[in-house]
Amino acid sequence: MPAIAIIGAQWGDEGKGKVAHVLAKDADWVVRFNGGANAGHTVVFGEPPVTLKLHHLPSGVAYRHVTSVLGQGMVVDIAALAEELTAAEQALGYTPRWLLSRQAHLILPYHRLIERLGGTQKTLGTTARGIGPAYQDKAARQGLRVGDLLRPQAFRERLAQRLEALRRLCPQAPELAAWNADDLAAPLLAWADRWQERLVDPRPLLWQALDAGETVIFEGAQATLLDLDHGTYPYVTSSNPTVGGIGTGAGVPPQRLDEVIGVTKAYTTRVGRGPFPTELTDDQGEALRQAGAEFGTTTGRPRRCGWLDLVALRYAAQINGFTSLVITKLDVLTGFDSLPVAVAYRCGGRVVETFPSEIETLAECEPVYETLPGWQRDLREVRRLRDLPPEARGYLQFIEEHVGVPVAWASVGPGFDDVAR
Ligand code: IMP
Repeated sequence: MPAIAIIGAQWGDEGKGKVAHVLAKDADWVVRFNGGANAGHTVVFGEPPVTLKLHHLPSGVAYRHVTSVLGQGMVVDIAALAEELTAAEQALGYTPRWLLSRQAHLILPYHRLIERLGGTQKTLGTTARGIGPAYQDKAARQGLRVGDLLRPQAFRERLAQRLEALRRLCPQAPELAAWNADDLAAPLLAWADRWQERLVDPRPLLWQALDAGETVIFEGAQATLLDLDHGTYPYVTSSNPTVGGIGTGAGVPPQRLDEVIGVTKAYTTRVGRGPFPTELTDDQGEALRQAGAEFGTTTGRPRRCGWLDLVALRYAAQINGFTSLVITKLDVLTGFDSLPVAVAYRCGGRVVETFPSEIETLAECEPVYETLPGWQRDLREVRRLRDLPPEARGYLQFIEEHVGVPVAWASVGPGFDDVAR
């Protein structure tokens, strides 16, 4: 299984990290290609249990034999990454193998300040990690990159120029007046000096690995409907979590991918704002939130919950070319008598089966549901798809038929072994 992409099919938090963790066991490389510390998941594994809280690092760090790559499409907060690495080293008892692209952009303290001043936390529900402003600087060609840390004097000068420009733009921000380029640069430069040999161009290494038949996993952060270009703009993140992001964010072309796994929950959740046709604001939504423990890993926010949306899932399959689906949290649906699933939208007096390109239209869409029977049996011990209760099998079959992509596995509990294949 040489090159495998793991892509979120909904609005994030589908459980991509669990899929990556399970597959990384037999992999040589795990590569992150987009986003930064806006992602987050907790991995608990082994005996005695080891807990890793991951924001930047790919799931591969849980295995000694895997090289984890932070690709050039990422935006990296060095202080946060340093803490994450220290915590990972302490938990694992060794330094995992990791490499960071010199072309990845840096998140600097002023990016978080700009996010706060811009108010997108309130208007869009952004995560306050400085992600958007860092990508903004990248597109405006005024970003500072990891590789710039290897030329300390030039780095200090460029940082001083950027601070000066920002002071002119926001003369009222006291933080900007107080910050000094040399002080901000010092810990970053010290860190880069320590880890110099890990700051590389990973692309030739990945090309070589693929040529040699090694297994490379591309672990997406966020998801299709949060994609800057294909998601529900402007309620999106500022990177490309879809499969195209692997080309730009890791330098590996699409035809080298052997599998594109779409990861979707058996229902739908979203954090942050923006239209969500199958959202449940009643007791059933609360029941899903409690049963699925739907609270954000990075921000702790309660997630909005709703039924599965096959219009959106078909769209995600088209955008990404999914070769298989992994359905997570199937066990959370246990105990519901019936399970509505959206197969189309009613919009402006018409029934549509395609995902609208504008959020104003999406906001007007009412889901057209087909209701499937629920099941009562606990799924936690099930390890084969064919051993699921007939209603759960029917649920998965319904998804396969409506999306046109086979279901490879279903996750039936929080543990890494709780998977039916
Ligand atoms: P940003 O990525 O912080 O700019 O936030 C943009 C939008 O993406 C907001 O609605 C966030 O809640 C959402 N978002 C960012 N990262 C994640 C994630 O890992 N899971 C779910 N939603 C996310």
